[in-house]
Amino acid sequence: MYKALIRPLLFRFDPEKIHHFTFSSLRFLNAIPGMPSIIKTAYNLNDPRLEREVFGLKFKNPVGLAAGMDKDAALYKQLSNLGFGFIEIGTLTPKPQEGNPKKRLFRLRKDSAIINRMGFNNGGVKAAVERLKQNPEGKGHVLIGGNIGKNKLTPNEEAVNDYIICFDELFNYVDYFVVNVSSPNTPNLRELQDKEPLTKLLQTLQDKNTARPKPKPILLKIAPDLTDEQLLDIIDIVKTTQIAGVIATNTTISREGLQSEDKNEAGGLSGKPLAKRATEVIRFLSEKSNKAFPIIGVGGIHSADDAIEKLEAGASLVQLYTGFIYEGPQLIKDINERILEG
Ligand code: FNR
Repeated sequence: MYKALIRPLLFRFDPEKIHHFTFSSLRFLNAIPGMPSIIKTAYNLNDPRLEREVFGLKFKNPVGLAAGMDKDAALYKQLSNLGFGFIEIGTLTPKPQEGNPKKRLFRLRKDSAIINRMGFNNGGVKAAVERLKQNPEGKGHVLIGGNIGKNKLTPNEEAVNDYIICFDELFNYVDYFVVNVSSPNTPNLRELQDKEPLTKLLQTLQDKNTARPKPKPILLKIAPDLTDEQLLDIIDIVKTTQIAGVIATNTTISREGLQSEDKNEAGGLSGKPLAKRATEVIRFLSEKSNKAFPIIGVGGIHSADDAIEKLEAGASLVQLYTGFIYEGPQLIKDINERILEG
């Protein structure tokens, strides 16, 4: 139904406006008495064989929503009703910020892709925490990852402070953390992926984390544009700092093989053209580290086969963004059904 009826309609309008429209529609639908359970019945697949225990957390299934869609933790409950095993909110920054001027989101239909240069538009970490308070531990708790970053105006030398602020604010309200140093849309952010600043950033956060009575898993989200040498550095850094794992990958700055009109827009490319490189990065990290840490695989998953490829390359869990926009919520169920088929 999504691809035949809903998508053709949604894809006629500006992508960012449609994002807000879809959020309002999901909120409206879920507010109708009885509707959440109808949606859950249609899209959820509950089976103990789908459950995964990764970095000490129990996931009801291995298919999550990638960061960037529910940046402000405004719709995690409704999105989880569509069958996701976990939802990653953010990227959040300490202060609210507008992000880049519009237009900043482009659908590349011929390539089943998206280019975005949103630039961490978000309402700030405090506002998100207020919404996360509606997700108490216990029954009905949605497993949430908190993806954190720095404000655009914070210089890289002071970036650690921004990450600490977000970490402290979110600590009681998320299940795991993601340190995002891989967005191409905040000037110079990706320089924080270099060995020295990255070790310092992760070590500082990990020290704060382990000083708490119950530390939480911290993951690092990396770009697909890193060289093999840089990926080997990442393996070293994960081992030295003892963080819980890696999310591979964020969007790419590559524009290889694209056909769509908007292919030269600045920003990060996601969707089908990213799939092969993201899988390569996952396989490289998994093999070269001897599976020393869990990897969440993300990038260009548009079918159950694509997800299986990521899992076989070494991912313990997967996440969707662009594939979810193109294929709709059925994709989550398709992947989980395929996993059950074995
Ligand atoms: C993203 N992504 C992203 N990642 C992140 O860590 N923080 C963020 O704020 C965002 N924002 C964002 C906005 C938009 C519009 C898109 C399309 C993507 C990256 C996303 O989480 C994912 O890593 C990539 O999009 C690759 O996966 P897909 O989209 O190919 O499934």
